[in-house]
Amino acid sequence: MKMLKVSLGDRSYPIWIGSGVNRLQSCWQEALAPGRVALVTNDCVGPLYAEAIAQQLREWKFSVVVIQLPDGEQTKDWQHLNLIFDQLMAHRFERGETLVALGGGVIGDMAGFAAACYQRGMRFVQVPTTLLAQVDSSVGGKTAINHPLGKNMIGAFYQPAAVLIDTDTLATLAPREFSAGLAEVIKYGCILDAEFFSWLEQSIDALLARDPAALTTAITRSCELKAQVVAADERESGLRAILNFGHTFGHAIEAGLGYGSWLHGEAVGCGMVLAADLSHRLGGITAEQQQRIVRLVARAGLPVAPPKWPAARYLDLMSHDKKAQSGRIRYVVLRSMGAAETSAVESELITKVIEKAIASGSDSGA
Ligand code: NAD
Ligand code: GLY
Repeated sequence: MKMLKVSLGDRSYPIWIGSGVNRLQSCWQEALAPGRVALVTNDCVGPLYAEAIAQQLREWKFSVVVIQLPDGEQTKDWQHLNLIFDQLMAHRFERGETLVALGGGVIGDMAGFAAACYQRGMRFVQVPTTLLAQVDSSVGGKTAINHPLGKNMIGAFYQPAAVLIDTDTLATLAPREFSAGLAEVIKYGCILDAEFFSWLEQSIDALLARDPAALTTAITRSCELKAQVVAADERESGLRAILNFGHTFGHAIEAGLGYGSWLHGEAVGCGMVLAADLSHRLGGITAEQQQRIVRLVARAGLPVAPPKWPAARYLDLMSHDKKAQSGRIRYVVLRSMGAAETSAVESELITKVIEKAIASGSDSGA
């Protein structure tokens, strides 16, 4: 069992990582306020894990109300957020009681936003059950719902009081979802830790086999790196933007194909392939390092060829990105392997990157 800390002054919190964390009384007792727990989950994760957790918490003298929402990114909206508030109100939950998010990034983001708003902020605990949520979305306090005109456009920075990462929950995760989470793990190696990247190259088969020791190492290092970035720049005024490596291209793919066609992590994987080429053209990484990124993304089971659209379509889609400033698109690029920065890049160069990726790609999936 590992414990990391996200250092944010009086809002600092622990991240517990390991097999069986969700069965540990000491982790839960430290995470929860005395009294009642609203356990927010969905109709996929709920039947797998919620009842066992609720029963165990009841044995430890917590009173638990399970709030089960339908599954899916399309539920990350006002209407479903309101279903959480309806239950909190109906059961007269108070600010000092705890809301627990049990699920992937959709539940974590939506329940976190509910916790941020309900009575101006109730205690909140993340229990992430997808690899993506365990290495990324549960840490750092970004909470949100989608608006019909934009993803994650309505939300708040609201840090949890604790994150409980039980690697056992990954046993039931679909292979495609697992690979999507690996994209974010690979991202940390590219932008912050070249040694970790090399370890991932050596350990990718063990990770795909969901070897518990390999998983714990990968999740722990990812959370450590994310915690460092969040501690340095909680509200993304600078450094935190590097966590979006591959995401500008990836968001264009997601938006252009229609959300849900490719998973977010799949689009990020392919986006990192494009961002690696861009980084090479800007002199940050060698051709060999660029190819290592492409190979690792492919070995993780992620697409490396983007949809075959004209570069102008990508540029248009990317102009709507949240990181565009005064109409200029900023890209996260590698200064070297394991170090990243943001940079405004001429659209001519982006066009070359996209055209080369399309020409060398076998199948676009579009
Ligand atoms: P998700 O929450 O939709 O989960 C993927 C699927 O796996 C769902 O069907 C879910 O019910 C199911 N699932 C979850 N845990 C499972 C388990 N243990 N076993 C079997 N099935 C399980 O998707 P996600 O990839 O976890 O998260 C994507 C969301 O996260 C997006 O909405 C994205 O915007 C958000 N996100 C937020 C941040 C952040 O910093 N807050 C970062 C990255 C992504
Ligand atoms: N997922 C990017 C961030 O948390 O900033």
